[in-house]
Amino acid sequence: MDWVYVEDIAGHAGREVEVRGWVYHKRSSGKVRFLVVRDGTGLLQGTMYSADKDAPLFQTFDALTQESSVLVRGVVREEKRAPGGFELEIREIVPVQISRDYPITPKEHSTPFLMEHRHLWLRSEKQHAVLRVRAEVVKAIRDFFDGRGFRLMDTPILTPSACEGTTTLFETAYFDQKAYLSQSGQLYNEATAMAFGKVYCFGPTFRAERSKTRKHLIEFWMVEPEVAFATLEDITVLGEDLVLFIIDRVLTRRRADLDILERDVKPLERVAKPFPRLRYEEILPRLQEKGSTIKFGDDFGAPEEALLSEFYDVPVCISHFPAAVKAFYMQPAPDRPDLALGVDVIASESYGEIIGGGQRIHDLDLLEERIREHRLPREAYEWYLDLRKYGSVPHSGFGLGVERTVSWMCGIKHIRETIPFPRLLYRIYP
Ligand code: 4AD
Ligand code: MG
Repeated sequence: MDWVYVEDIAGHAGREVEVRGWVYHKRSSGKVRFLVVRDGTGLLQGTMYSADKDAPLFQTFDALTQESSVLVRGVVREEKRAPGGFELEIREIVPVQISRDYPITPKEHSTPFLMEHRHLWLRSEKQHAVLRVRAEVVKAIRDFFDGRGFRLMDTPILTPSACEGTTTLFETAYFDQKAYLSQSGQLYNEATAMAFGKVYCFGPTFRAERSKTRKHLIEFWMVEPEVAFATLEDITVLGEDLVLFIIDRVLTRRRADLDILERDVKPLERVAKPFPRLRYEEILPRLQEKGSTIKFGDDFGAPEEALLSEFYDVPVCISHFPAAVKAFYMQPAPDRPDLALGVDVIASESYGEIIGGGQRIHDLDLLEERIREHRLPREAYEWYLDLRKYGSVPHSGFGLGVERTVSWMCGIKHIRETIPFPRLLYRIYP
């Protein structure tokens, strides 16, 4: 007898199969027993019929509890009324393990309780839908860059230097030296871009950020393209194309999951190229007018992102930030050296910044100056300075945060549900 996954069940109508999974739900109605089994790929309803309430199959059924593991054998039947359009006429149930007192019951639970049981919460339908969307987003990102001839470069996680400021570094011992967990693969990508032209890295990044918000994780995944000879404009268009590619994939392939999440897809469907482009100085007075306390030189926070979502119902690109608030490597604007050629893409519906990037300094003297100004230890950046000595070219790149993108796609307000095991300011368990 074939072991079949629920998602493939339609191809087995009329045949006897075995499904291996866990008890999701069960109920009785007269001479019929219903058993809903989940196997990780979907839910399948099984039915059993007997006039004898003490039939051996019914006795096995009676002993089953929520999340007991089972092998269920039976014949696949097309059944319009069943979820998924097919059901199993059960002939045999083999319990693998009987679960006792599964803590997540159909009643409402508090978020702290669910977070404490994250290892089990992942089995719930909604969490399942979110994580399937996440897997699709990751696949879409890889397909996008692979399809455009970008070379995948895995950058190191243990590093001797900071990329995004020294205040959020996780320090660890590296034998007799100090090392930091990577905040971004960008600096290494600048080296690989000079070697391969256009590259991307995609991996976990770490920020010891003391911000307890619904948009910050301590460990998050970021995809970072870097392109030699590309300008701020080139990289902005690349970011738009990536966002559109991801949206299209999720809408076409994960519609059922979005339905489970009750995601209104209209705000995603309306996203088109080009996104509104605004300079920092253009948007500042509009934010202030609406009550924001932001001043020239401040970075955007959640209130500013929320206001932007009031002005625009699509993502927006903000560029030309005050250089002083941005990272040391940002190329100054030619006409305004106090502004940086950086771009952030702010998602619609208040989901916040999903992309941060821009054009990098390619001039050796200027970069040396910035390293001094930011009081960074020059020794750790010697190799990075080399890139400006041997065939330096203007180049640009960005980072897109996977979890923020997933929360936007899913319409989930808190980022903690967009990764299987979130690392949060006050939580590293489980
Ligand atoms: O704007 P950020 O800090 O940019 C960089 O790290 C650049 N070095 C990237 C580059 O140019 N190669 O981070 C990029 C994106 C943000 O827009 C956001 O989506 C995500 O990474 N991000 C976070 N996501 C979750 N939790 C956090 N604490 C995040 N910090 C940044
Ligand atoms: Mg940023």
